[in-house]
Amino acid sequence: MKLLITGATGLVGRRLVQKAFSLGIEIHFLTTSKSKTDSIAGAKGFHWNPSKAEIDSACFEGVDVLIHLAGASISKLWTSSNKRQIRSSRVDSTRLLHSSLKQLEPGHQVKQIVAASAIGIYPSDFENTVDEQTIVHPNSFMEEVVISWENEVDQFSSLGLGVTKLRIGLVLSPKGGVLGPLKIPTAWGLGAAFGNGKQGQSWIHIEDVVGLFLAASKEQWEGVYNAVAPNPVSQTHFIGALAKALNRPYFLPPIPKFALQLIIREMSSLVLDSHWVSAQKILEKGYLFSFPLVEEAMQDVVTKKR
Ligand SMILES: NC(=O)c1ccc[n+]([C@@H]2O[C@H](COP(=O)([O-])OP(=O)(O)OC[C@H]3O[C@@H](n4cnc5c(N)ncnc54)[C@H](OP(=O)(O)O)[C@@H]3O)[C@@H](O)[C@H]2O)c1
Repeated sequence: MKLLITGATGLVGRRLVQKAFSLGIEIHFLTTSKSKTDSIAGAKGFHWNPSKAEIDSACFEGVDVLIHLAGASISKLWTSSNKRQIRSSRVDSTRLLHSSLKQLEPGHQVKQIVAASAIGIYPSDFENTVDEQTIVHPNSFMEEVVISWENEVDQFSSLGLGVTKLRIGLVLSPKGGVLGPLKIPTAWGLGAAFGNGKQGQSWIHIEDVVGLFLAASKEQWEGVYNAVAPNPVSQTHFIGALAKALNRPYFLPPIPKFALQLIIREMSSLVLDSHWVSAQKILEKGYLFSFPLVEEAMQDVVTKKR
């Protein structure tokens, strides 16, 4: 199997590439930085610039499955220009992949797209569990972006490709991601939840994110799946598990909601929103999680270097 991966130089992409190599899978990747085209030993890099609709179409040669992870970071301050970039890096990049493949028809062999999506598509809900059937509406910036992103991904079915969308939860990794900014205060015994701390945190260990992308590519899954571990926890529990893994005390009260809203405004939704997300559909697919419990996942990511 040969994969074309966008966003291969990011947190999930780097681990996915390592794992794919260990399984003998060949890799092409697209990067927005010309300097990174030679950055992954053993893989062939190609340059693209989705904002200018530029792409090296040789990237599709011999490719069976397209794995689309590209997207500008959502943790930069949500200024209007960063918000435009968060949206266009996902929507325009997906559109460019689609139009490029369409132009190549019938001269390519891509059968499947497995695209990243996010649980930020779901409305915040402190009580109820959401699943892939939950109706979504563009009621917030994040919900609108993810809905538009998924709508673009759906267009690939008109080209005859199988379409898989993985709605990823909070990724736990030794290399940063969501734990990056939380680790330092928690390691100093200053970890604290936000708001009332009762928000649902639907997390997933990076090994399982990568495992799901590979399973979906190999088995050509169809449709939308929540890429979350089967045991979501409250935010208080989540920070407590991190503190325990770091062997540090955890006693501070949560940081009040109004303080966060005052400082980071709309972006405070990233830590104040609640998502209790079901993993039932992927469990029914037969996927076996390496890390189903948050305590084991936290222990692994704070002690291991991958
Ligand atoms: N990590 C999480 O907790 C999480 C949760 C839910 C969903 N997701 C989604 O999963 C995907 C992968 O996540 P990640 O954590 O690996 O992200 P990441 O570390 O931020 O990497 C994303 C990659 O996207 C590319 N990129 C950045 N800006 C871009 C732009 N303007 N246009 C096109 N490409 C751009 C970059 O690759 P180049 O520099 O090589 O172009 C970068 O390496 C993202 O789409 C993210 O939204 C992640």
